Amino acid sequence: MNPTLVVPAPLPRPVRIAGTGAYAPERVLTNRDLEKMVHTTDEWIVTRTGMRERHIAADDQAASDLGAEAARRALADAGLRADDVQMIVAATITPDHPFPNTGCMIQHKIGARNAFCMGLEAACSGFVYGVETARHFIASGAIETALVVGAEKMSALLDWRDRSTCVLFGDGAGAAVLRPAHRGRGLIASALGADGSLGDLLIVPAGGSRRPASPATVAAGEHYLRMNGREVYKHAVTNMVRAARAALHRAGLTVGDVRWFIPHQANLRIIGAIAERLGAPMERFVINVERYGNTSGASVPIALDEAARDGRLRNGDIVMMLVFGGGFTWGATLLEWEK
Ligand code: ACO
Repeated sequence: MNPTLVVPAPLPRPVRIAGTGAYAPERVLTNRDLEKMVHTTDEWIVTRTGMRERHIAADDQAASDLGAEAARRALADAGLRADDVQMIVAATITPDHPFPNTGCMIQHKIGARNAFCMGLEAACSGFVYGVETARHFIASGAIETALVVGAEKMSALLDWRDRSTCVLFGDGAGAAVLRPAHRGRGLIASALGADGSLGDLLIVPAGGSRRPASPATVAAGEHYLRMNGREVYKHAVTNMVRAARAALHRAGLTVGDVRWFIPHQANLRIIGAIAERLGAPMERFVINVERYGNTSGASVPIALDEAARDGRLRNGDIVMMLVFGGGFTWGATLLEWEK
């Protein structure tokens, strides 16, 4: 299936990422720790996924706590105050509550009194969907400053007795401040897509309006994430490659023009397969899956923040954020880095 939304440049005014921030909870869970919890080995996890450790939130930390800290850091990086923010998009599949939305919770925590707020549920694609959404509000002239946050407490969705899922995920948050671009092109083009017919392959079956929480759903463990790993793997590679090509096509760019790919950190082998199909060397991929595991909607903004802070991203670099997640949803966004 092709991307259903392809956004070409130029929009009425260019929009850039003016600041980034990330936060990971203190507690680190290593593969060795997992060996003591389920029937697994460090060797299996490393060879199948590339993961070595992940961060796990404290019991009293919810997604908005992680997101608020990342948001504060992104605002500091952009040199802005919470009052400057006019829109907050919180991408998460682990909201503090079914409602109010996690964007409102973050607003309250950071004191962004002038912002309107929403949650965005597109699983691991949420941050890129959120950036594209906020971009349009700024490009149209409706607002000047938006905060897009990916915040996840995946540990709350995991069955810690199920070795096929509990080793794969971690908790964390990343955030970006979006503002009008002055010099460079900023966000250049995006390709977003979805295929709802495949939703059952990666799902939390109960706890929503389809199967509200009941003693029976809890006893059956239906509030935990379930995944058909092999199918997810196949669709992830195919659709991320298609999205990447669609965004490049609309931007009039080639794989060779992209200095940094920032892919969703679901699995090192998925990233390797994408690199191979695109014909791009792995050295041009920002990878931190070994230290965070899969943090769903937080994974791309955490990696983006890392690459920005350690100086890998330089002004003028063409960067591609590339995502795939439950839904299924997927997307690619091209931007010219400008700080
Ligand atoms: N430790 C040891 N053995 C395990 C573990 C584990 N933690 N988990 C599964 N196994 C076993 C299985 O039981 C199976 O054993 P069997 O052959 O005796 O039945 C064997 O390992 C192989 O299992 P597969 O599922 O075939 O392993 P595969 O090579 O496909 O790797 C994996 C599994 C890592 C989950 C892979 O399919 C994958 O990465 N899929 C994509 C997952 C993903 O990216 N999900 C998230 C994307 S969207 C989002 O982030 C929300």
